Amino acid sequence: MDNDSNQDSDMRVNPIVDSYGRVHRSLRISVTDRCNIRCFYCMPENVKFLPQDSILTFEEIHRVVEILAKQGVSRVRLTGGEPLVRSELWNLVKLLKSVSGIEEIALTTNGILLKDQAEKLKSSGLDRINVSLDSIDRDKFKEITRRDALDKVLAGLDAAIDAGFTNTRINAVSVKGISETEVIPLVSWAQEQGLHLRFIEFMPLDGDQAWQDQQVFSGTMLRAIIETEFGALVPVERDRSSQPSTDFQLSEGGSHIGFIDSVTEPFCQSCDRMRITAEGKFRNCLFSTEEWDLKQLIRSNASNDQIEQRIRDGIQHKKLGHGSDSGRFVRPERAMYQIGG
Ligand code: 5AD
Ligand code: SF4
Repeated sequence: MDNDSNQDSDMRVNPIVDSYGRVHRSLRISVTDRCNIRCFYCMPENVKFLPQDSILTFEEIHRVVEILAKQGVSRVRLTGGEPLVRSELWNLVKLLKSVSGIEEIALTTNGILLKDQAEKLKSSGLDRINVSLDSIDRDKFKEITRRDALDKVLAGLDAAIDAGFTNTRINAVSVKGISETEVIPLVSWAQEQGLHLRFIEFMPLDGDQAWQDQQVFSGTMLRAIIETEFGALVPVERDRSSQPSTDFQLSEGGSHIGFIDSVTEPFCQSCDRMRITAEGKFRNCLFSTEEWDLKQLIRSNASNDQIEQRIRDGIQHKKLGHGSDSGRFVRPERAMYQIGG
């Protein structure tokens, strides 16, 4: 084979497609299972984290992203645990930003460490930030996260805005019996700040086995509460068909409010996401009960083709739906902090 045809075959994109024809363009990478707070729905108070050497290094993550970017993956999201507790995360952002084909690098964070890191992340090329925040009431925040850290989150958000991040979104998990009092203050606050707020239904992935289906505060119920207070919500078109949230605009012409109704209205048909856990396991779905080990392959000098093939094997096993809304649902063994939100 001459050089030219070699180059051609290197550049040929062979998208990552599952057995239902869904093309996968988005990769969520958990960079740590550690966190500096303890949201009750995510992890128990006393939790044993992974040892440092079992976590993928930045170079190992970079290699996997290069392999996938060649096959049409264009969006990466860094998650945790809390990704900003991973030392010098901005160096990973820099590495991934240099990968040809990667169009967007986003971060999901609880915001606590943003005050110190927002500028570095911005200058390293991070494109977008989602901040998880379920309440803007100090006591409620403490009740949910078991830490008194609301001020730090708000300071982190200010720092992100000062650093030049735009389109920052707030993700609020809604849990029945807890979130009722938080909905209206959160919406009013988001409106004042001009922030895009999204409510996420409480999913059966929790460290304390706290989830009960009657605790799901459905998007439909939330919308009703918001409309009673603010008037009819105006539907907004989706940016991308794979976007999980259904967005509306407050009728007063202000902020966008989105609903990620993962439990009551799963969006599996349009899912284009793949996941890698901090310890290098490939997952084809948040709710998957199976995993494919990439770390062991990477650390045993496997070729790029072998790594790509293992990912394709994993994608071939992706189910049509996660079934958390049905009686057939089998709960994954991992909690959210061990998968990556
Ligand atoms: N259900 C819904 N959302 C959850 N998150 C963590 N655990 C759960 C759960 N059981 C959210 C976090 C964050 C994102 C990473 O996932 O609040 O917004
Ligand atoms: Fe930490 Fe996020 Fe889990 Fe809360 S949901 S404990 S912020 S990893």
